[in-house]
Amino acid sequence: MDTRLPRAWRLSERDYPENADSEEQLRFLVGYAILAPSPQNSQPWIFRLGDETIDIVPDPFRILEARDPAGRERAISCGSALFNLRLACRHFGRDASFRIHPPEADSEVLARFHREGPCDPAPERQIFEAILQRRSWRQPFAEKQVPTDLLATLEESARLEGARFTPVTSPSLQNALAGLVAEADWRLGSNEAVRRESAGWIRATDHAEDGVPGRAMGMSPVEAMLAPVTHRVFNYGDTRASRDRSLACTAPLVFALSTEGDEPEDWVACGQAAQRVLLGAVAQGLQGSFLNPPVQVPELRNRLKTLLDIEIWPQVLVRLGYPTGPARPTPRRPLTDVFHS
Ligand SMILES: Cc1cc2nc3c(=O)[nH]c(=O)nc-3n(C[C@H](O)[C@H](O)[C@H](O)COP(=O)(O)O)c2cc1C
Repeated sequence: MDTRLPRAWRLSERDYPENADSEEQLRFLVGYAILAPSPQNSQPWIFRLGDETIDIVPDPFRILEARDPAGRERAISCGSALFNLRLACRHFGRDASFRIHPPEADSEVLARFHREGPCDPAPERQIFEAILQRRSWRQPFAEKQVPTDLLATLEESARLEGARFTPVTSPSLQNALAGLVAEADWRLGSNEAVRRESAGWIRATDHAEDGVPGRAMGMSPVEAMLAPVTHRVFNYGDTRASRDRSLACTAPLVFALSTEGDEPEDWVACGQAAQRVLLGAVAQGLQGSFLNPPVQVPELRNRLKTLLDIEIWPQVLVRLGYPTGPARPTPRRPLTDVFHS
């Protein structure tokens, strides 16, 4: 085990408590759920353990009011955490099911996960292992194309979870999308409330338990130390826009995931789809990162629809490619912090 990894990432399947009671086994599974991505690494989830069930509640104190007032991205993160739970559950030999807004639960429960009877874990072994390998890769990718046959697999992964995968297949469309990302960055950077909020989630080092370490965004140690102040005071939209434009233009693949509706159940579906797609890509040696600003600005979200030529709701925009080296994972809160009764 690599002791330089943040604690949450040092999970080993050998530690699965085979002979323990159901509650301890479910707790172990949640260790995989919290490795899901979340905006600003806000980890906006609460888990409530029941008898063979785990309720996922969006954490009311971990909403990004300025960027995500409806809690759409928060629900997407909970969806990705739910997907990890299902995958880990099957990996340890038990089937899993889930229900969105179960009628018998409190209204704040977004999804209820159920552990079911025995199943064969073999088919999903590779994507299960990818849970521990996935990172948000915000550097340029290697100059290597994404194999075209992988696109069909990713499309199917998204479909299985109820989302549509739209790859960008023409360079002119990719340039136009990169322009939209830059415009969204610029608009968000000009918004004082967004700046204040983002500044609050940047961390100078990896020692915090949430938030994004500056180094994960390509900052030097000094920039990372000053960022909580500089991001609040200065409009960083221009800098972010030119960086993201270039990352979007040069990515081997940019794709969107969209859903028929735009309600909490669609957001959870998108989160599950995003995680299935990302883990499928990671299992083949790729990494991805989100370029979500155009979805966060309502007017630009409509332009994104037009550009992608879709009638349904874009939920996430992602770039994908081969990383040029290893990346350190970002920290997570201790498990004890995410359980509430
Ligand atoms: C719905 C959603 C939107 C996100 N949007 C962005 C984004 O626009 N830009 C970005 O750099 N990262 C974005 N992220 C990635 C998070 O910052 C990242 O998941 C988090 O910092 C944890 O790091 P990890 O993915 O390496 O585990 C997003 C993640 C989610 C789930």
